[in-house]
Amino acid sequence: MPRVIVVDPSAPDPDAIAQAVLVLHGGGLVAFPTETVYGLGARALDASAVARVFAAKGRPPAHPLIAHVLDERQARDLAAAWPAQASRLAGALWPGPLTMVVDRAEHVPAAVAGGAGSIAVRAPSHPVARALISGLGEAVAAPSANRYQGLSPTIAAHVVKELGDAVDLVLDGGPCDAGVESTVVDLRGGLMRVLRPGAVNLARLRELGPLQMAVETAHEGDPRASPGMDARHYAPRARLLLVETWEKARRIAVGLASCGQRVGLVVHDARETTARPGPLAVRLLPHDPAEYARLMYRTLHELDDAGVDVIVAQAVPEGEAWCAVADRLRRGASPAP
Ligand code: TXA
Ligand code: MG
Repeated sequence: MPRVIVVDPSAPDPDAIAQAVLVLHGGGLVAFPTETVYGLGARALDASAVARVFAAKGRPPAHPLIAHVLDERQARDLAAAWPAQASRLAGALWPGPLTMVVDRAEHVPAAVAGGAGSIAVRAPSHPVARALISGLGEAVAAPSANRYQGLSPTIAAHVVKELGDAVDLVLDGGPCDAGVESTVVDLRGGLMRVLRPGAVNLARLRELGPLQMAVETAHEGDPRASPGMDARHYAPRARLLLVETWEKARRIAVGLASCGQRVGLVVHDARETTARPGPLAVRLLPHDPAEYARLMYRTLHELDDAGVDVIVAQAVPEGEAWCAVADRLRRGASPAP
């Protein structure tokens, strides 16, 4: 079991932050809450601490990490070039759940960026994340604090369950607000290229400049704009089946349960409340993209913890407002190779 310190999410105890900063200075790993999901933090400028992040997650070394900073000034220190668009976006959306990919400054270890010439930067708004970065006085590299390809953690218990002793200290600041990861945009090349839909919705981004969507899914052997675009990602342990309609999802779930499978059914159709099929673990999520996102990973974690074999999920509506949630469900349902 890693050491866990409970902190007030809006006003973290300076002593707890100091202990976390000392762990980072020693080359250790600290899991901490952000407004999106929990991150697994290390000093971004310490290549061996960064190597420990990859080892703890079981993440391939070519998958780059996000450097978490306090503000635009700190982000610029990590960048070889800072496009005007980056300043506009930072001014409008930082601190917050937007990650920007820019050219990497030479002094930033290549390992943080998975060997790429770029670096992803984001200034989180969560007071605990900010206190940690501020206490360290420099960037904190942090992927989501889960095993490679697994569900992202939205409460501290998810981190402990997934990473155990591989993390030195967990700051427990309660549940994350957004529940889905940051939106990632690549700003090299003049345009805003969306690499990962996320907590900042695309309509908001479009108000700030023209958008381009990167290819939806990378295939084996393709050059990838971002490793997070791998087909399988964000997956529960149970097999996840995505089914178009509520009626069909329910029918499939009941059928599988009758074959002796332990089944979780995740729907957002309010009709589900009226008649619950007996042996299934049914979860009704809100029919609102932000509310759904807040509970999505937590619900999938709970069903995994309950030991279900299969999770049948009703697909979410088409359209931009739902695209971050739809993206995670689609990747989570993608079969393991
Ligand atoms: O909300 C978040 O972004 C959370 C919290 C902890 O901040 N972090 C997170 O990190 O989701 P991670 O490592 O799980 O996902 C980072 C995403 C991946 O899709 C990765 O491929 C992409 O950002 N990424 C990071 N650096 C990149 C780079 N230099 N070029 C292209 N994509 C990059
Ligand atoms: Mg992740």
